[in-house]
Amino acid sequence: MVGVIGGSGFYSFFEDAAEHVVDTPYGAPSGPVTVGEVAGRTVAFVPRHGRHHEHPPHQVPYRANLWALRSLGVRQVIAPCAVGGLLPELGPGTVVVPDQLVDRTSSGRAQTFFDTGGVHVDFADPYCPDLRAAALQPGTVDGGTMVVVEGPRFSTRAESRWFAAQGWSLVNMTGHPEAVLARELEMCYAAVALVTDLDAGVEAGAGVRAVDVFAEFGRNVEKLKELVRSAVAAAPRQRDCTCVHVHDGVSLPITLP
Ligand code: ADE
Repeated sequence: MVGVIGGSGFYSFFEDAAEHVVDTPYGAPSGPVTVGEVAGRTVAFVPRHGRHHEHPPHQVPYRANLWALRSLGVRQVIAPCAVGGLLPELGPGTVVVPDQLVDRTSSGRAQTFFDTGGVHVDFADPYCPDLRAAALQPGTVDGGTMVVVEGPRFSTRAESRWFAAQGWSLVNMTGHPEAVLARELEMCYAAVALVTDLDAGVEAGAGVRAVDVFAEFGRNVEKLKELVRSAVAAAPRQRDCTCVHVHDGVSLPITLP
């Protein structure tokens, strides 16, 4: 089964869906998980911030969301999200499938299922190459480094210029720890990043305002949903990637759902 975690402004995915209220050892997910059909595939959808945007980025129940999806049978997660562009050529409306991330969150978000130690997953390439390939549709940009900041504030100009100077191309508030938690649960994961604004350090950009971010997301959400539908259709039916073997040879202190 394929999972979709909808970002800001992406609160529902199906017309006709069964609603599952799932509980997990990490509490409730952001909202009810809806399960429906897309392109002949069964898809489970959870709105990352809740249906009414009640979970800000630093308080999203990331562990519960991933655990709930896996317990329903999800093994491949497509994760649309809103991002700021750090390069003038990545303007609003651009959709990027990033290939790297940098964690600049700082509040100690719960970022592992293995609090008792002894488990260290390989995260050199944070996104599944095969699911990324499925997400790369005509018109999307292939690759980019997404720096994940704590939020909920936007970055200062100096921070933003520094991010760009490092060679990073996108900035966002939710990409971590979602990707690593998916990896720990041996699920394939690919982010689909919709640029909603040019971040504060980009020469031509003014400061970022949340109202503009939401408005730009709203203008592009149908296009983004269509891209996600195409990614679901293209997702491999048989997984043949290293995501399946993350814990091979390791005795896990917990049983994956
Ligand atoms: N999400 C959308 N735009 C953003 C920005 N400029 N910074 C951080 N997160 C964002």
